[in-house]
Amino acid sequence: MTRAAITGVHGYVPDYILTNAELETMVDTNDEWIVSRTGIRERRLLKGEAQGTSVMAIEAVKGLLEKTGTAPEDIELVICATVTPDLTFPDTANIIAHKVGMKNAFTFDLSAACSGFLFALTTGAKFIEAGTHKKVVVIGADKMSSIIDYEDRSTCIIFGDGAGAVLLEPTEDGLGVQDSILHSDGIGEQYLLKKAGGSRHPITPDILAAREQFATQDGRPVFKAAVKGMSSVVIEMMEKYNLDANSMQWLVPHQANIRIIETVSRMANFPMDKIMVNIHKYGNTTAATLPLCLWDYEDQLKKGDNLILTAFGGGFTWGAVYLKWAI
Ligand code: UT7
Repeated sequence: MTRAAITGVHGYVPDYILTNAELETMVDTNDEWIVSRTGIRERRLLKGEAQGTSVMAIEAVKGLLEKTGTAPEDIELVICATVTPDLTFPDTANIIAHKVGMKNAFTFDLSAACSGFLFALTTGAKFIEAGTHKKVVVIGADKMSSIIDYEDRSTCIIFGDGAGAVLLEPTEDGLGVQDSILHSDGIGEQYLLKKAGGSRHPITPDILAAREQFATQDGRPVFKAAVKGMSSVVIEMMEKYNLDANSMQWLVPHQANIRIIETVSRMANFPMDKIMVNIHKYGNTTAATLPLCLWDYEDQLKKGDNLILTAFGGGFTWGAVYLKWAI
């Protein structure tokens, strides 16, 4: 059976570090609150004029192709998961492919908020499994600073910018993507959204005055739903494949809040020392958290390792992907 294996991973985060100390000068918050409530110590921001999400994704993809010895023109499909596309259209994946020279690829963006990378990984894997495509690049990238209100302490302390990318190729050796459980329910819109700037509420002076061009979140209901959503799919996946804390090497959770990760750890009976965590240095980078975790922990991963990736995001959307590491 042909499966899709991740044969390379790379990431990129911008240089600018927004620390909790700097946030203290911008809104009524403090380092102690941020660290104890979220686990975040700093996040990266992409600064500069006319710098979109693609700027970071291009760096991640260039590094990925270089490290895997892949010629850009050999890539057949590029999927970019993002909620902060450079433009409404053309798609960001199209812009990335053009700038990197992936001129034989067809491209599209995929929007599923913080679950975007899981949904894109599953979609990319299907093209490999179907036998129609042999080299697929899946990207998770977001410039959250472009939709964050730096006067709103309930969101500006959480989010950061970044990009990660993986190369998917066919394998016959049983490794690679084994299964996905993905969900969307639509009941979370009121709790986590960017009200304006889409077709329902185009930007007007009134919208700008009400600051509705920015993302807003009612944290508590999202927190509860995130814990429930991620732990239930992780437990379901572990039971389905008879996995436990011994037979599974890593849990790779979306990085939204260290307390969410710790609660999922307890509920799934899976120890924290086998859970990838980098929220302290990047915050919540939306679609980029999972590939950035894989990139950060790459040196500790071994061929054959059992990994479950899990995420939860706006919509709501959530899910888990079970894969066997193939590099
Ligand atoms: O990635 C997509 C999915 N997103 C998530 O999973 C995020 C889920 N939610 C969360 O992570 C948490 O709900 C937050 C980190 C957003 C907020 O933490 P919380 O423990 O739920 O705090 P809260 O919103 O219940 O607020 C508690 C208190 C409030 O004050 P009062 O009413 O108790 O006096 C807030 O006004 O903390 C206050 N507060 C702050 N204080 C200092 C809220 N934000 C801040 C802040 N600094 N930045």
